[in-house]
Amino acid sequence: MRHLISPLDLSTDELKEILDLADRIIEHPEAYSSVCHGKKLATLFYEPSTRTRLSFEAAMINLGGQVLGFSSADSSSAAKGESVADTIRVISSYADICAMRHPKEGAPYVASQFSSIPVINAGDGGHNHPTQTLTDLLTIRRLKKHFDGITIGFCGDLKFGRTVHSLINALVRYDNIRFILISPAELKIPSYLREEVLDEKKIEYKEVHKLEEVLPELDILYMTRVQRERFFNEEDYIRLRDSFILDAKKMELAREDMFVLHPLPRVNEIATEVDQDPRAKYFEQAKNGVYVRMALIMKLLNLEVPVC
Ligand code: CP
Repeated sequence: MRHLISPLDLSTDELKEILDLADRIIEHPEAYSSVCHGKKLATLFYEPSTRTRLSFEAAMINLGGQVLGFSSADSSSAAKGESVADTIRVISSYADICAMRHPKEGAPYVASQFSSIPVINAGDGGHNHPTQTLTDLLTIRRLKKHFDGITIGFCGDLKFGRTVHSLINALVRYDNIRFILISPAELKIPSYLREEVLDEKKIEYKEVHKLEEVLPELDILYMTRVQRERFFNEEDYIRLRDSFILDAKKMELAREDMFVLHPLPRVNEIATEVDQDPRAKYFEQAKNGVYVRMALIMKLLNLEVPVC
């Protein structure tokens, strides 16, 4: 039985297999409409979500399966003090696979140790968000056709942003990747990522504070929200929340073939006027999340891929 806790739980060959399958699902969705008949997905969300939970549910429904779950800790027995370990033991007898989001880093890993069904990490604290990474990789590959040699700028909250941490970890396995890390000094990437991943693997990167000065260099700009829920101090959040705002004027500095991604939700960091720019791909990215989660569910349940 396989779980997905970190993006590194999948080899690059397995990643390719999942992205290829997602591409085939996009081309022939009808061929996959009953592969999960009789199967159930449980969504255990101890933290708010729109895209991840609902795209998992849409994915299972599109595959002909059914869904059950809870969307907040308050509406589950976690509010009465039940542990993640006990919860997953019970859910293992109600569903065939589960997706778990939790504010505590490592909670989905703990669940996987007590589970008899595959556990998918749907975001744990500021740590990892592997299915967002699959979504991002599918989107980048569909836009750029490859990962090797791309320059990707990550902008915003790089300290707490789990989508950034997961995507960096996944991308360093490809050749000649170059990162430009754009953040205020207080929201730089964690030192473990700089020292144990980027420095260790001799990845080319630079850290800057101004988006304008690096925009012309980028193939992909990955914007992120400054996350109020990760701050201990409201004053710090207010001071940092509008550090970067991408607008139509700044987009003039970017290349015609540079694409803007964002895991969403956005607050102020991308002006709504940018949505009209054909290079803005964040809503397409959110849509891709359904297809890649369909492919992942099929992979973890070891389902036969229909011939089409
Ligand atoms: N990208 C993402 O994780 O969005 P949600 O928080 O809405 O699930």
